[in-house]
Amino acid sequence: MSRQYYIAGNWKMHKTRSEAAELAKTLAGQLKDGQHKYLVAPSFTSLETVAAIVKGTNIRLGAQNCAAEEQGAHTGEVSVLQLKDLGVQTIILGHSERRHVYKEDDALINKKVKLALKHGFEVILCIGELLEEREAGKVEAVCETQTVKGLEGVSAAELANIVIAYEPVWAIGTGKTATPEDAEAVHAFTRKVIGRLYGAEAAEKIIIQYGGSVKPDNAAQLMAKENIDGALVGGAALTPDTFVPIAKF
Ligand code: 13P
Repeated sequence: MSRQYYIAGNWKMHKTRSEAAELAKTLAGQLKDGQHKYLVAPSFTSLETVAAIVKGTNIRLGAQNCAAEEQGAHTGEVSVLQLKDLGVQTIILGHSERRHVYKEDDALINKKVKLALKHGFEVILCIGELLEEREAGKVEAVCETQTVKGLEGVSAAELANIVIAYEPVWAIGTGKTATPEDAEAVHAFTRKVIGRLYGAEAAEKIIIQYGGSVKPDNAAQLMAKENIDGALVGGAALTPDTFVPIAKF
């Protein structure tokens, strides 16, 4: 496969600055000789601390969200300009917790995607179905809608800065991983959607990560699938003992 594996840790709302620094330092040391592409996404409050540690290493710095506007009266929000100032390179958008807990819809996510791309960020666009959508046979319809609407107005050139993360909502933080076969089916389908929108070459190139209870003991089987190009890791990204073996699968 010509695509590079991309292993990302989403630390969600965990860790104080000193805890984040400790984890980032250990990862920087232990992943120095890692063969894949890496990213850590700490909370906003730890970005500056972690930026200083991962600078010049093979670990990229990610944010977990951004505002849909560049600046202005948006109490509690964080803008792309502020993230760029901190050295953030990548922004995770459309995470299931943003969609389902904080009620972000496809239009808002699309606005954020376009703004982040405009400012030169790489974007990890998360898609994925709820359990009831899977049980109702709507997996493809949901993932297609989230992909198409999330990328509305994104040019072929900008697509080079897009990574897709398929994260079935029922697998997040539940210990229930999608089987490699079930995940592969959605990844292959999503790649086909990208092909329809942007052509075969773009579809072949785009990185599609899997997320949802990725652990050291299931990472390799997932990554062995043709269309699974990496992982977006939550719980197992919080300690080197679990993240390093995934990152070095
Ligand atoms: P878990 O690995 O804890 O299931 O979380 C996955 C996730 O949501 C990563 O963004």
